Amino acid sequence: MKDVIDIIKTRRSVRDYKEDPVSDDDIKFLIDCARYSPSGMNMQPWSFLVIQNKEMIHKLSENGKKAMIPLAEQMVNDPNKAPGFISFLKMGTNLFYNASSLVIILGNKKSVTADWDCAMAAQNMMLAAHSRGIGSCWIGLVMPALMDEKILKELGAPPGYKAVAPLIFGYPRSETTMPKRTEPEVKWLR
Ligand SMILES: Cc1cc2nc3c(=O)[nH]c(=O)nc-3n(C[C@H](O)[C@H](O)[C@H](O)COP(=O)(O)O)c2cc1C
Repeated sequence: MKDVIDIIKTRRSVRDYKEDPVSDDDIKFLIDCARYSPSGMNMQPWSFLVIQNKEMIHKLSENGKKAMIPLAEQMVNDPNKAPGFISFLKMGTNLFYNASSLVIILGNKKSVTADWDCAMAAQNMMLAAHSRGIGSCWIGLVMPALMDEKILKELGAPPGYKAVAPLIFGYPRSETTMPKRTEPEVKWLR
């Protein structure tokens, strides 16, 4: 078993996947690891949608791009970045990089800490996946589509839950180099 620090430092967001599906047992293992995350008042306010149907994933990617384009046009003011980002959304790119599994972590709207709890559960899943040679990536770009109650309901989300963390999982086709890490500002008060 690899050392936890090594797993933390070598996990990467993977955007190039093999066709091979992640097994049901491995997905269950990842969800089990998510259960061990801390949560506000131990509410465990999460629920999981596991989507492995290629057509559903493709449709959600198309809906995701459609919902994101107007926001991107408003948000991206940098003339150098804007055309690249918007053409990325308009191209045939799949927001989910053809990964075999999409797991959407849903948060119970009754819990005030659901967003943070689900983000912690997401990190547990991504680290556990990496420990088993499974790649992952959080796909925030699909969030505008997932905020649409109709889309969420169509996907089978239980009532009273919102999408928090859309995560893809699959077997990496290639190595991913680490994007630059910057030194954070740290103030010590003592
Ligand atoms: C909240 C959140 C949203 C993200 N959304 C996307 C996304 O939509 N598409 C994507 O390719 N990567 C996305 N990422 C991955 C980041 O780009 C990635 O974590 C960052 O570049 C650092 O790379 P690393 O994860 O390999 O260390 C997202 C990550 C987070 C935490």
